[in-house]
Order: sequence, then C-alpha cells, then structure tokens
Amino acid sequence: MSELNKIALQILSNGKGILAADESTATMTKRLDSVKVHSDENNRLLFRETLFSSLSMKECIGGVILYDETIRQKTSDGKTIPELINSGGSLTGIKVDTGAKTLAGSKEEKITEGLDGLRERLKDYYKLGARFTKWRGVYSISDIYPSKLSISVNAHALARYAALVQEAGMVPIIEPEVLMDGTHSSTDCLNKTSEVIRKCYEELELNNVDLSGTILKPNMILPGTNSNEKISSKDIAELTIECLKKSVPSSVPGIAFLSGGQTEIEATANLNQINIRNDTNFIMTYSYGRALQQSALKFWSKDVNNIIGTQEIFNHRAKMCSLAAQGKWSENFENSK
Ligand code: 13P
Repeated sequence: MSELNKIALQILSNGKGILAADESTATMTKRLDSVKVHSDENNRLLFRETLFSSLSMKECIGGVILYDETIRQKTSDGKTIPELINSGGSLTGIKVDTGAKTLAGSKEEKITEGLDGLRERLKDYYKLGARFTKWRGVYSISDIYPSKLSISVNAHALARYAALVQEAGMVPIIEPEVLMDGTHSSTDCLNKTSEVIRKCYEELELNNVDLSGTILKPNMILPGTNSNEKISSKDIAELTIECLKKSVPSSVPGIAFLSGGQTEIEATANLNQINIRNDTNFIMTYSYGRALQQSALKFWSKDVNNIIGTQEIFNHRAKMCSLAAQGKWSENFENSK
C-alpha cells in the first residue's frame, strides 16, 4: 500500500468524511452576509475554529479542506490551524486552484486556473501541514453544454494538478462539479457527468497519476434545480452508483460527494441511500461544505460567542453524515438531538 493510498484511506474510512471549509474570502463573505455577520479575518477564523475544535472532529471528520487564509491563521491559544485539526486525528487539506475564469473559446463556460507556480506553492503548503489538496473544475448543463472544449481543458488541468500534488507527497482531490442549476433531467445529469468523469480519468492516466492515491469529489446525479422532475433518494442513489461504476477506475479508493446546493437533510438522505446500495469497492462518503455548516452558521450568527451551542449543532450534523456514510441513517435520528 502506497503512502498516498494510506492517507486517502485515513481520510475516508470508518464512517469519516471531509469538512469542506475552503470557501474563498469572497464566498465566505457571501455566506456571512447572508446571516448578517461582518466578514473580517477574525470572524472567519472564529467560526472555523469553533467547528475545528468540536468533539465530532475525532469521530466523523477525517480531513478538513482549508483556504489559503485559514491555513496561515492561529487559534486563540496560539496553535496553528493545522495543529488544531491534527490534534483531533484529522488531516489538513488545502484548496490550491485559483478559481474558475471565463473560458476563451466558449465564453459562457469556465476553466479553472492555478497551474502557474503550483509546484512551489505545494511545497509551502506541505510545510504548513497540508497532506491533501483540492481543485474544482466546474461545468453547467444545457442543450449545448458542457462543450467538448470545457470537458477537455478542465480534465487536462485537473490531471496536471493531480500529478504535481502527488509529486509533492500529497493526495489530490479531483473535483469535477457538474452544477445543479438548470432545467435538465436526471438522465441528462447522468450522461453529462459520466462523460465529464471519464474524460478526467483519461487525462489522469495520461499524466501517470497513481489513482490509488487520489480521491474523487463528484456531484450526485440529480435533476436540475428548475426541472419539474420528481425523484426519490433511492433513484438518485441508483443513478449515482450507475454513473460511478461506468466512469471510475476500480483503483480509486474512495469517493467523497459535494453537497452542491442540496439541503442538509437531502444530502444526508441521498448519501445514506447510496451506501445502502453501494455494491462497489469504493468508499462513498461526504465532502460537504454547506450541508455540514449551514445550521451551525445560522445558529452561531445569533451569538458568535456561543461556542458550545454552535458545536452541538455541528456535532449533530456531522454525526448524521457519518451515519449516512455507513448506510445507517434514518430520519428518526434527526429528531433525537
Ligand atoms: P458544497 O458541499 O457546499 O457544495 O461545497 C463543497 C465544495 O467543496 C465545493 O467545491
């Protein structure tokens, strides 16, 4: 078993998943604005430190993805944030792309940037304590999108990123996110997501990436947010498994889904159904941002010094996700707070 494979398994095994707390300052400001908290360095740190020192970190969170600002911050008692995360047995991850920019040649689509200077930045992040990384490619669905161009260039960037990350001794999370926005059907989502993921693996193999030392972070297969299609959690789980079975090579150890705008309960219920039906060798778990943090953020915003209360809300959500990652969740647990 390679070192990188061990790291990936440490993050994902035993009902653990990933806390995606890597919102850029612009995105975090949007989140804080929505609950009427001023977005400054201290408030961003206070909320994140509150989550990272929660009890559920030990049992439910195998890795935390940070943004550049956070990995350089210190807690109120002088520990670095990676030290705080490691003290609960969890590993530190870092978002290393520099964002999705307009794609020349298909101006309604995006290409994720950040390859220039990446080799040097990775060395710095390793020294700061990071052991895994994230890069997000983003695609939208319409009659004409995602285009062959966007599928091809984003897969190329993800693969070059992954090769550099492994060279630096870290596990790359490969995140090709097909967005929920739109009126498309679940079948469209299945077909487009499968095409996107397959292209990523074609490029990853070309770039000699050791797939056993990677983690895939995909979207679940869902109808578009503005579609009239009604679909059950069971159907979502079946389509999602079908997509992954036909697109992901078996050497990939695990898959950690993004929540992508699903509510906390939807993201939990769907992951639970996926695990009840999981007949693959992939670990199927969570790498949620909003679906782990939303309720905690809302509660915290009413009194930013209520650390214990905020942690209780976060602990509950993390526990629910962890049960779902084992196919053991049911709605009854939601009411037993
Ligand atoms: P959400 O779970 O809120 O979609 O965030 C996950 C993520 O990291 C998106 O890049």
